[in-house]
Amino acid sequence: MQPKNPPKQHRVKAIPQWSPSLSVGHAKLDEQHITLLELGRDLMRLLETDAASNEQVHVALEDIVRQARLHDSLEESILEANGCPTLAEHKQAHQTARNELTNMLSAALRGDLVRPELSRLIADWMGHHISENDLPVKDYMKQPTKARAAN
Ligand SMILES: [Fe+2]
Ligand SMILES: [Fe+2]
Repeated sequence: MQPKNPPKQHRVKAIPQWSPSLSVGHAKLDEQHITLLELGRDLMRLLETDAASNEQVHVALEDIVRQARLHDSLEESILEANGCPTLAEHKQAHQTARNELTNMLSAALRGDLVRPELSRLIADWMGHHISENDLPVKDYMKQPTKARAAN
């Protein structure tokens, strides 16, 4: 009988480096994106280290979930204030990603986290979050232009 789940390659994908081409034009959101990418890299480094304890992985994942919540809620409020027409889909994409992350967190708590699955999820999420979800709506993430009155 053919094995249903052939051994998967344990190759860890790289987390993208932030560069000005990934800027969404809002300083705080850019700062949060940079933090998320850094936290993602920290977690990937742990996942590549066989000696990393489940506790260490759990703590690193918790940091990402916390930062993702903060980031999603700020980003959604800015998109809403600027009348983004695809806000509902954007919120849904955030929710889906957060659900996947919290499922991994629960698995880590239960002690049955599959590390290659977590590294794939983190790499995919970080690879798509900014370039495919955020940049297309960056016109709705602009910094408020209150300063204009001062001119
Ligand atoms: Fe987003
Ligand atoms: Fe974002």
